[in-house]
Amino acid sequence: MNSINRRDFLELGGALIAVCAADGTIPAAAVAAQSNPGPFSASPIETVRIGYVGIGGQGSGHVENLLKIPGCRITAVCDVRSERTEWATKVITAAGHPAPVAYTRGPRDFERLCETEDLDLVYNATPWEWHVPIMLAAMKNGKHTATEVPAAMTIDDCWAIVESAEKLKKHCVLMENCNYDRMEMMVFNMVRQGLFGEIVHAEGGYLHDLRGIKFADEGEGLWRRAWATKLNGNLYPTHGLGPIANCLDINRGDRFDYLVSMSGPSRGLQAWAAEHVPADSPKRQERYVLGDVNVSLIKTALGKTIVVEHCTNLPRPYSRIHLVQGTKGLFQGYPNRVYLEGRGREDQWQQAADLLAEFEHPLWKEIAASASGAGHGGMDFIEDYRLIKCLREGKPTDMNVYDAAALSAVVHLSVQSVSKRSSAVDFPDFTKGRWKTTPPLAIVHM
Ligand SMILES: NC(=O)c1ccc[n+]([C@@H]2O[C@H](COP(=O)([O-])OP(=O)(O)OC[C@H]3O[C@@H](n4cnc5c(N)ncnc54)[C@H](O)[C@@H]3O)[C@@H](O)[C@H]2O)c1
Repeated sequence: MNSINRRDFLELGGALIAVCAADGTIPAAAVAAQSNPGPFSASPIETVRIGYVGIGGQGSGHVENLLKIPGCRITAVCDVRSERTEWATKVITAAGHPAPVAYTRGPRDFERLCETEDLDLVYNATPWEWHVPIMLAAMKNGKHTATEVPAAMTIDDCWAIVESAEKLKKHCVLMENCNYDRMEMMVFNMVRQGLFGEIVHAEGGYLHDLRGIKFADEGEGLWRRAWATKLNGNLYPTHGLGPIANCLDINRGDRFDYLVSMSGPSRGLQAWAAEHVPADSPKRQERYVLGDVNVSLIKTALGKTIVVEHCTNLPRPYSRIHLVQGTKGLFQGYPNRVYLEGRGREDQWQQAADLLAEFEHPLWKEIAASASGAGHGGMDFIEDYRLIKCLREGKPTDMNVYDAAALSAVVHLSVQSVSKRSSAVDFPDFTKGRWKTTPPLAIVHM
């Protein structure tokens, strides 16, 4: 009891009363269940009041999505560029809501927003270096928080968000939109139905030619290229890892145990600059250390294997790889195909699209019309919808602070492994053992 604070005790007590047997004794199974109350949930919020920080390329899409989702209001906005808060004010008022309070007094003005505004949620889509300071300020001031990916760039920062969310009892949500893409959700639904058997291996990645974007004089060009001068590893692991982590029940029955990582040479940005950037531009003085292709291998506690790749500096078509393989068959993305033993022709892929009629995730079926036209093929709308729904219903969010920490930890761990001749590096167990008893993610509905 010493380690349980008063609020925990009150919450625990209320729940225990509900499971007392008629004779007043408490069944042993109920006591065991209470020792692992499952993923964190907070009290339901009827109308989620949101402060949005960072209204650039990705944040603008989220603002537009949130305006279409019932039960939430954007009441404060923050960006270092006042033209972005002005744009947000225009779309928010055009949707029939009161003008939000704008915070534009520099890169730490989100602190004033967190201290001043009465909000339920502070959601950010800022450059990577700001995610953790914003989330910590939000939680410290009594707000739930959600972030674009990756949540954190160092192991210390991963621990900082976990400890803050636990201590202050706040949601700290990783907004991994790729978990909600149509094929990823179909595959997850098929995994849950056992079609691939036991999942033993998975692969994911972020393979996207970002050279033009990284050298632009706007948007991500103002901050993303700088990371390539500092770190050599996988700087953006969560798009590939999120969906396959769900299929492998990471943090809900299994966990990432250790990782080895290898980077190849760093050529792509230098070559692009030599061709496209004037010789007297300061950009030509930059020295990049980020290997063009980084490959990491993760072993899970249950012995499953995962390959995760990062490649954003070379010419190539877009891919997240997305391979999920089990004892009865596999799915492989880009292009999307399926092989199920005993179904279709032996040794031949089946088009995955042909399976949608049978295995489409129910949430996609229910929400497709509302998501149509939203960012990244609709998946951004679905992730925003789920976040607001969970907060309104007082349910655990689909991704929580442990997912934010475990998936983002790949950034720092891959850098460490690359710098040590690909030595194995351990993942911290951010859940402190709770991964063993946390129930797997369910198939959710609208
Ligand atoms: N999930 C996805 O598919 C996806 C796609 C693109 C970007 N992202 C992520 O979204 C985040 C933002 O990326 P983006 O492409 O929108 O970048 P961006 O540069 O277009 O937008 C960032 C915005 O944040 C503002 N900003 C910068 N520092 C700030 C601060 N301290 N306080 C307030 N505002 C600040 C900038 O003025 C800008 O408007 C990144 O984490 C990125 O990885 C995710």
